Amino acid sequence: MYSLLGLAALFPLASASFEGNLNYRAPSARSDHVNLGLSLPIITARTLKRSSVAYQPSELNFTHGVASGDPYPNSVILWTRVAPTAESDKSDVTVSGTVDLYSHETEKYIQADANPICVEWNVWEVEKGHKGQPKSSGKAYTTSDIDFTVKVEAQGLKPWTLYNYQFNVCGSNNTSPVGRTKTAPAEHADVDEVKLAVFSCSNYPKGFFNVYGNAARKDQHDFVIHLGDYFYEDASGGPRAHKPANKLFTLYDYRTRHGQYRTDNDLQLLAQNFAWIPTWDDHEFANNGYRDGFSALNNTEASFRNDGPSISVDTRKVHAVRAYFEWMPIRQVDLDDNLRIWRSFKMGKLMDLIMIDTRNYDRSITSGGNNNAYIEAIRDDPSRTLMGGRQEKWFFRQLSESKERAATWRVVGNQIVFSRILDAEGALTGTDNWSGYVASRNRTLQHLYDNGITDNIFLSGDSHQNWVSDLAWLGTKPYDGTTGSGAIGVEFAGTGVTSSGPKGNIATIQKGTKTKVDSNPELQWQEGYYRGYFHLSIQKSKIDAQFFGSPSVATRNGWDLPLANFTVLAGDNHLQRPVGGGKVEAGTLKGGETVGTNVTLDTNAWKWQKVGFEKMYVK
Ligand SMILES: *[C@@H]1O[C@H](CO)[C@@H](O)[C@H](O)[C@H]1NC(C)=O
Ligand SMILES: *[C@@H]1O[C@H](CO)[C@@H](O)[C@H](O)[C@H]1NC(C)=O
Ligand SMILES: *[C@@H]1O[C@H](CO)[C@@H](O)[C@H](O)[C@H]1NC(C)=O
Ligand SMILES: *[C@@H]1O[C@H](CO)[C@@H](O)[C@H](O)[C@H]1NC(C)=O
Ligand SMILES: *[C@@H]1O[C@H](CO)[C@@H](O)[C@H](O)[C@H]1NC(C)=O
Ligand SMILES: *[C@@H]1O[C@H](CO)[C@@H](O)[C@H](O)[C@H]1NC(C)=O
Ligand SMILES: *[C@@H]1O[C@H](CO)[C@@H](O)[C@H](O)[C@H]1NC(C)=O
Repeated sequence: MYSLLGLAALFPLASASFEGNLNYRAPSARSDHVNLGLSLPIITARTLKRSSVAYQPSELNFTHGVASGDPYPNSVILWTRVAPTAESDKSDVTVSGTVDLYSHETEKYIQADANPICVEWNVWEVEKGHKGQPKSSGKAYTTSDIDFTVKVEAQGLKPWTLYNYQFNVCGSNNTSPVGRTKTAPAEHADVDEVKLAVFSCSNYPKGFFNVYGNAARKDQHDFVIHLGDYFYEDASGGPRAHKPANKLFTLYDYRTRHGQYRTDNDLQLLAQNFAWIPTWDDHEFANNGYRDGFSALNNTEASFRNDGPSISVDTRKVHAVRAYFEWMPIRQVDLDDNLRIWRSFKMGKLMDLIMIDTRNYDRSITSGGNNNAYIEAIRDDPSRTLMGGRQEKWFFRQLSESKERAATWRVVGNQIVFSRILDAEGALTGTDNWSGYVASRNRTLQHLYDNGITDNIFLSGDSHQNWVSDLAWLGTKPYDGTTGSGAIGVEFAGTGVTSSGPKGNIATIQKGTKTKVDSNPELQWQEGYYRGYFHLSIQKSKIDAQFFGSPSVATRNGWDLPLANFTVLAGDNHLQRPVGGGKVEAGTLKGGETVGTNVTLDTNAWKWQKVGFEKMYVK
């Protein structure tokens, strides 16, 4: 047991500047949490010796741009990395923390006991420009222990305000790029509109992150939502080959992969100019994960043997989580619950944004490829859970409290497709999504229906296709697919940024979407050809959703195709009829028309919009 006094003793005054960097407390604030917590006294003693090397500002670079995230009304998280090398730290901090690192840029060893690097940060109101006193500022240390990352909370800010921010090496003109971010509306504010851009499944070797760049250049949203599979753990090669070249197991592996993704120009642009609110899916750890394993790593003795990866499921998870918190601009809301990413945001009286983890926290066994029949046999087992009891209780309480405070909308940031999807024969499909956990889905729907919690919007990713459905509880609650009545909200499930969709040309994929729309009364639109993202304009009276696609991710290009638009009126609890205004540009719309001409990059006969490639300057 730690008393407050005990904690104070762990962080002596000399470490004040270490404390300003949140990453020294991630994923655990407790150094007695072996492999999770760092010991600041040890780091302080090792790096603040008079004999230690001190870096000159000219030896340091801001190697991976800047980023911001998790906006609250009065604060936001700012991120950067400043280092003597672009390479990630190789030592397993959880073991020794003192392995020297070889820098390929300078062809020198970087001493692990070098003095900490001091970074200053400043935040200005965009409207007032970079003149005069910053609105918030501070200093923090970074060292190799946290891969030279810097994560700070800029406090004392005004709600719903645009800010610029910048880091510099203390006392020098060695500065980071200027970032732009925004705070959330105040909890009780009457905010008219919040705009989100929603992404999932960005696989580097599968293509260019054009849709990140397009959304950033269009500049039509307040916040970025990423529903997971922000990176992939596999060893894929090709023109945009993964680094490291192997599958990820060690801390160095996970850090290096984060670093590689943050070198992408389009990702950097979207990170530099918008606050992100991400959650993870499986690939930030490994494919088809659950509480006790992954599709390619069982929690058995075999995993530890030298002919295997010689790592346990838990250790791999610890590496993935530590690297994620180091490299992503997000808050850790419970410093003693290290796997917890689930958290929520109150955006004025307009909405509650509830980000959940259906994947890694406490999920019952999922399909690993060779056990699909087993999962199908147990999918109705009421003890199966996607979130675990603790998170599920929290989730249901968030939904109830949101209703009690009379927020207009409840928006749920979720990984996998929630709606029931039947195949052409009427059989339930899905073992690695909510359909593999039928009781979890039923409990969620029951909580919404029993408590009259309405105006629910589920956001989903993971599937690499677009699916738009009324949120219905078929088989229990009446639902009329023609009018939408009986539903309790809407699900917007988006395609991936680059991850491959179904195989085949546009015609065969179109056939598949028609079959799915015809087989499912609540599924109103389905599309599988394009990589893309969607925009949500959340207003008091309605939500407008616009889906966009990239005709090709094989090249870096700025083509941005409208695919379909939808509206949900407040209080309706279903898509406005006629759905999509009766027509979409791609995919299959139930009872509607597809008016596009199947554009690929070779044809520009369609209604496209080319988003300029000019750099977006920060005002
Ligand atoms: C720092 O950046 C400069 C300019 O891009 C580059 O020439 C130099 O090699 C970098 N140094 C390190 C240590 O990364
Ligand atoms: C930073 O640059 C300004 C303008 O060039 C110069 O006046 C100032 O001395 C520099 N500061 C440091 C710490 O090098
Ligand atoms: C995991 O266990 C299952 C069931 O015993 C087995 O079929 C599968 O090959 C194992 N996977 C690995 C990567 O060892
Ligand atoms: C659900 O998962 C199954 C595989 O388990 C997949 O075939 C199906 O396409 C997925 N459905 C959605 C809507 O993601
Ligand atoms: C879930 O709800 C459906 C629809 O009412 C019902 O058919 C099914 O038996 C329920 N399954 C579980 C596991 O609760
Ligand atoms: C687009 O593709 C669909 C599916 O193959 C086809 O039905 C439709 O006629 C095509 N549209 C045009 C304008 O070629
Ligand atoms: C959907 O919205 C986009 C962006 O405003 C627009 O370009 C497109 O024409 C709309 N599509 C339809 C079918 O109305």
